Amino acid sequence: MNWREYWNQDTPIYVSDRHKTLHYQRIAADIAALVPSPQAHVLDHGCGEALSAGRVAARCGRLYLCDAAPLVRERLEARFRGNPKIEVLAPEAVEHLPDASLDLVVANSLLQYLSQDELRDLLRLWRRKLKPDGRLVLADVVPPDLGPAADAKALLAFGWKGGFAFRAILGLARTALSDYRKLRNELGLTTFAEPQMIELLRGEGFSAERRGKNIGHNQARMTFVATPVPPA
Ligand SMILES: C[S@@+](CC[C@H](N)C(=O)[O-])C[C@H]1O[C@@H](n2cnc3c(N)ncnc32)[C@H](O)[C@@H]1O
Repeated sequence: MNWREYWNQDTPIYVSDRHKTLHYQRIAADIAALVPSPQAHVLDHGCGEALSAGRVAARCGRLYLCDAAPLVRERLEARFRGNPKIEVLAPEAVEHLPDASLDLVVANSLLQYLSQDELRDLLRLWRRKLKPDGRLVLADVVPPDLGPAADAKALLAFGWKGGFAFRAILGLARTALSDYRKLRNELGLTTFAEPQMIELLRGEGFSAERRGKNIGHNQARMTFVATPVPPA
Protein backbone atom coordinates (compact mmCIF):
# COMPACT_ATOMS: atom_id res chain seq x y z
CA MET A 1 0.00 0.00 0.00
CA ASN A 2 1.19 3.56 -0.69
CA TRP A 3 -0.07 6.82 0.82
CA ARG A 4 -2.46 7.51 -2.06
CA GLU A 5 -4.09 4.11 -1.57
CA TYR A 6 -4.12 4.58 2.17
CA TRP A 7 -6.27 7.72 1.92
CA ASN A 8 -8.82 6.02 -0.33
CA GLN A 9 -10.57 4.36 2.63
CA ASP A 10 -11.95 5.16 6.07
CA THR A 11 -8.92 5.73 8.28
CA PRO A 12 -8.43 5.69 12.08
CA ILE A 13 -6.85 9.17 11.94
CA TYR A 14 -9.92 10.74 13.54
CA VAL A 15 -10.53 9.31 16.98
CA SER A 16 -14.24 10.18 16.99
CA ASP A 17 -16.88 12.02 14.97
CA ARG A 18 -16.39 15.00 17.28
CA HIS A 19 -12.65 15.06 16.55
CA LYS A 20 -13.30 14.96 12.79
CA THR A 21 -15.94 17.70 13.01
CA LEU A 22 -13.77 19.99 15.15
CA HIS A 23 -10.73 19.31 12.97
CA TYR A 24 -12.48 20.34 9.76
CA GLN A 25 -14.18 23.32 11.44
CA ARG A 26 -10.81 24.62 12.50
CA ILE A 27 -9.16 24.03 9.12
CA ALA A 28 -12.05 25.78 7.36
CA ALA A 29 -11.91 28.77 9.74
CA ASP A 30 -8.15 29.07 9.18
CA ILE A 31 -8.49 28.84 5.39
CA ALA A 32 -11.46 31.24 5.33
CA ALA A 33 -9.30 33.80 7.14
CA LEU A 34 -6.77 33.64 4.27
CA VAL A 35 -9.31 34.36 1.50
CA PRO A 36 -8.38 37.77 0.09
CA SER A 37 -11.78 38.87 -1.30
CA PRO A 38 -15.39 37.71 -1.74
CA GLN A 39 -14.67 37.19 -5.47
CA ALA A 40 -11.51 35.12 -4.91
CA HIS A 41 -10.98 31.80 -6.66
CA VAL A 42 -9.53 29.34 -4.17
CA LEU A 43 -8.05 25.86 -4.56
CA ASP A 44 -7.80 23.54 -1.57
CA HIS A 45 -5.42 20.84 -2.85
CA GLY A 46 -5.48 17.56 -0.89
CA CYS A 47 -8.59 18.79 0.88
CA GLY A 48 -9.71 15.49 2.44
CA GLU A 49 -13.38 15.35 3.37
CA ALA A 50 -13.44 19.11 4.02
CA LEU A 51 -16.61 18.81 6.11
CA SER A 52 -16.81 22.57 6.72
CA ALA A 53 -15.77 23.77 3.25
CA GLY A 54 -19.13 25.58 2.99
CA ARG A 55 -17.66 28.09 5.40
CA VAL A 56 -14.74 28.80 3.06
CA ALA A 57 -17.07 28.93 0.05
CA ALA A 58 -19.16 31.57 1.83
CA ARG A 59 -16.07 33.82 1.86
CA CYS A 60 -15.00 33.42 -1.76
CA GLY A 61 -16.34 33.43 -5.33
CA ARG A 62 -15.34 29.88 -6.22
CA LEU A 63 -13.84 27.02 -4.24
CA TYR A 64 -12.12 24.10 -5.94
CA LEU A 65 -11.77 21.05 -3.71
CA CYS A 66 -9.13 18.68 -5.07
CA ASP A 67 -8.31 15.26 -3.67
CA ALA A 68 -6.52 12.26 -5.16
CA ALA A 69 -8.76 9.68 -3.47
CA PRO A 70 -11.85 8.73 -5.52
CA LEU A 71 -13.74 7.77 -2.33
CA VAL A 72 -13.06 11.19 -0.81
CA ARG A 73 -14.20 12.95 -4.02
CA GLU A 74 -17.44 10.91 -4.09
CA ARG A 75 -18.20 12.06 -0.54
CA LEU A 76 -17.33 15.67 -1.35
CA GLU A 77 -19.57 15.61 -4.40
CA ALA A 78 -22.47 14.20 -2.38
CA ARG A 79 -21.98 16.74 0.40
CA PHE A 80 -21.58 19.87 -1.72
CA ARG A 81 -23.82 19.07 -4.70
CA GLY A 82 -26.14 21.91 -3.65
CA ASN A 83 -23.39 24.51 -3.32
CA PRO A 84 -22.91 26.32 -6.66
CA LYS A 85 -19.60 27.85 -5.54
CA ILE A 86 -17.91 24.50 -4.90
CA GLU A 87 -16.39 22.27 -7.57
CA VAL A 88 -14.73 18.93 -6.79
CA LEU A 89 -11.65 18.11 -8.87
CA ALA A 90 -9.35 15.15 -9.38
CA PRO A 91 -5.67 16.22 -9.35
CA GLU A 92 -5.44 15.83 -13.16
CA ALA A 93 -8.30 18.33 -13.56
CA VAL A 94 -6.35 21.14 -11.88
CA GLU A 95 -4.18 21.20 -15.02
CA HIS A 96 -7.29 22.29 -16.99
CA LEU A 97 -8.07 25.34 -14.84
CA PRO A 98 -7.18 28.55 -16.70
CA ASP A 99 -3.63 29.75 -16.08
CA ALA A 100 -3.30 32.78 -13.77
CA SER A 101 -6.85 32.33 -12.46
CA LEU A 102 -6.41 31.46 -8.76
CA ASP A 103 -6.12 33.97 -5.92
CA LEU A 104 -5.26 31.42 -3.25
CA VAL A 105 -3.98 27.84 -3.25
CA VAL A 106 -3.88 26.00 0.06
CA ALA A 107 -2.32 22.59 0.67
CA ASN A 108 -2.83 21.60 4.28
CA SER A 109 -1.28 18.41 5.62
CA LEU A 110 -0.47 17.16 2.13
CA LEU A 111 3.27 17.55 1.59
CA GLN A 112 4.28 14.75 3.95
CA TYR A 113 2.56 12.25 1.64
CA LEU A 114 4.29 13.44 -1.56
CA SER A 115 7.70 12.57 -2.96
CA GLN A 116 10.09 15.47 -3.59
CA ASP A 117 9.44 15.07 -7.35
CA GLU A 118 5.66 15.12 -6.91
CA LEU A 119 5.97 18.28 -4.84
CA ARG A 120 8.17 19.99 -7.45
CA ASP A 121 5.60 19.15 -10.18
CA LEU A 122 2.82 20.54 -8.00
CA LEU A 123 4.74 23.75 -7.23
CA ARG A 124 5.13 24.33 -10.99
CA LEU A 125 1.43 23.62 -11.57
CA TRP A 126 0.32 25.95 -8.74
CA ARG A 127 2.73 28.66 -9.93
CA ARG A 128 1.08 28.56 -13.38
CA LYS A 129 -2.47 28.58 -12.03
CA LEU A 130 -1.94 31.42 -9.53
CA LYS A 131 -2.59 35.02 -10.49
CA PRO A 132 0.53 37.22 -10.33
CA ASP A 133 -0.67 38.56 -6.96
CA GLY A 134 -2.00 35.19 -5.76
CA ARG A 135 -0.77 33.33 -2.70
CA LEU A 136 0.28 29.75 -2.09
CA VAL A 137 -0.08 28.49 1.47
CA LEU A 138 1.66 25.22 2.37
CA ALA A 139 0.53 24.23 5.81
CA ASP A 140 0.98 21.52 8.42
CA VAL A 141 4.43 20.84 6.97
CA VAL A 142 6.32 18.34 9.11
CA PRO A 143 9.84 19.35 10.21
CA PRO A 144 12.49 16.57 10.20
CA ASP A 145 12.80 16.31 13.96
CA LEU A 146 9.08 15.85 14.66
CA GLY A 147 8.09 12.28 15.50
CA PRO A 148 4.79 10.55 16.29
CA ALA A 149 5.15 11.48 19.99
CA ALA A 150 4.86 15.20 19.22
CA ASP A 151 1.79 14.56 17.03
CA ALA A 152 0.28 12.51 19.88
CA LYS A 153 0.90 15.34 22.35
CA ALA A 154 -0.78 17.86 20.03
CA LEU A 155 -3.76 15.55 19.56
CA LEU A 156 -4.17 15.10 23.33
CA ALA A 157 -4.12 18.88 23.83
CA PHE A 158 -6.71 19.28 21.04
CA GLY A 159 -8.82 16.49 22.62
CA TRP A 160 -8.58 18.10 26.04
CA LYS A 161 -9.81 21.45 24.70
CA GLY A 162 -12.41 19.87 22.41
CA GLY A 163 -13.95 17.52 24.97
CA PHE A 164 -12.71 14.26 23.40
CA ALA A 165 -9.63 13.61 25.55
CA PHE A 166 -10.67 10.07 26.51
CA ARG A 167 -11.40 9.13 22.89
CA ALA A 168 -8.06 10.70 21.93
CA ILE A 169 -6.20 8.37 24.31
CA LEU A 170 -8.09 5.34 22.94
CA GLY A 171 -7.54 6.59 19.38
CA LEU A 172 -3.81 6.95 19.90
CA ALA A 173 -3.61 3.33 21.05
CA ARG A 174 -5.62 2.30 17.97
CA THR A 175 -3.41 4.34 15.63
CA ALA A 176 -0.28 2.80 17.14
CA LEU A 177 -1.53 -0.61 15.95
CA SER A 178 -2.92 0.61 12.63
CA ASP A 179 -1.85 0.62 8.98
CA TYR A 180 -1.10 4.34 9.41
CA ARG A 181 1.72 3.63 11.86
CA LYS A 182 2.93 0.70 9.74
CA LEU A 183 3.06 2.91 6.64
CA ARG A 184 4.65 5.78 8.57
CA ASN A 185 7.39 3.35 9.67
CA GLU A 186 7.78 1.75 6.24
CA LEU A 187 7.39 4.70 3.84
CA GLY A 188 8.03 7.54 6.28
CA LEU A 189 6.69 11.04 5.88
CA THR A 190 8.35 13.62 3.66
CA THR A 191 9.72 16.28 5.99
CA PHE A 192 11.23 19.72 5.41
CA ALA A 193 13.44 21.96 7.46
CA GLU A 194 12.38 25.62 7.30
CA PRO A 195 15.39 26.84 5.22
CA GLN A 196 15.02 23.87 2.85
CA MET A 197 11.37 24.72 2.16
CA ILE A 198 12.14 28.41 1.59
CA GLU A 199 14.95 27.42 -0.80
CA LEU A 200 12.72 24.97 -2.67
CA LEU A 201 9.99 27.60 -3.10
CA ARG A 202 12.55 30.19 -4.26
CA GLY A 203 13.90 27.72 -6.80
CA GLU A 204 10.38 27.31 -8.21
CA GLY A 205 9.80 31.05 -8.63
CA PHE A 206 8.18 32.04 -5.34
CA SER A 207 9.22 34.39 -2.62
CA ALA A 208 8.33 32.72 0.65
CA GLU A 209 8.32 33.01 4.38
CA ARG A 210 7.23 30.90 7.31
CA ARG A 211 4.08 32.14 9.01
CA GLY A 212 4.11 32.41 12.81
CA LYS A 213 1.02 30.26 13.20
CA ASN A 214 0.34 26.88 11.60
CA ILE A 215 -3.10 26.03 10.16
CA GLY A 216 -4.90 23.57 12.44
CA HIS A 217 -4.17 22.40 15.97
CA ASN A 218 -0.55 21.19 15.72
CA GLN A 219 1.72 24.17 16.26
CA ALA A 220 4.87 22.02 16.06
CA ARG A 221 4.23 21.80 12.31
CA MET A 222 4.81 24.72 9.94
CA THR A 223 2.96 26.97 7.50
CA PHE A 224 4.67 28.76 4.59
CA VAL A 225 3.18 31.60 2.58
CA ALA A 226 4.57 32.04 -0.93
CA THR A 227 3.91 34.54 -3.70
CA PRO A 228 4.97 34.21 -7.34
CA VAL A 229 8.05 36.26 -8.26
CA PRO A 230 7.48 37.98 -11.62
CA PRO A 231 9.78 36.66 -14.34
CA ALA A 232 12.83 38.96 -14.81
C1 LIG B 1 -3.93 14.21 5.87
S1 LIG B 1 -5.17 14.36 4.65
C2 LIG B 1 -5.38 16.12 4.76
C3 LIG B 1 -6.79 16.54 4.44
C4 LIG B 1 -7.08 18.02 4.69
N1 LIG B 1 -6.26 18.88 3.88
C5 LIG B 1 -6.90 18.34 6.16
O1 LIG B 1 -6.05 19.15 6.47
O2 LIG B 1 -7.61 17.78 6.98
C6 LIG B 1 -4.28 14.22 3.12
C7 LIG B 1 -5.20 14.21 1.91
O3 LIG B 1 -4.41 14.44 0.75
C8 LIG B 1 -4.90 13.62 -0.29
N2 LIG B 1 -3.78 13.43 -1.25
C9 LIG B 1 -2.68 12.67 -1.12
N3 LIG B 1 -1.88 12.80 -2.20
C10 LIG B 1 -2.50 13.69 -3.02
C11 LIG B 1 -2.17 14.27 -4.28
N4 LIG B 1 -1.05 13.96 -4.92
N5 LIG B 1 -3.05 15.16 -4.83
C12 LIG B 1 -4.19 15.49 -4.19
N6 LIG B 1 -4.56 14.96 -2.99
C13 LIG B 1 -3.71 14.08 -2.42
C14 LIG B 1 -5.34 12.35 0.38
O4 LIG B 1 -6.27 11.63 -0.41
C15 LIG B 1 -5.94 12.89 1.68
O5 LIG B 1 -7.32 13.12 1.57
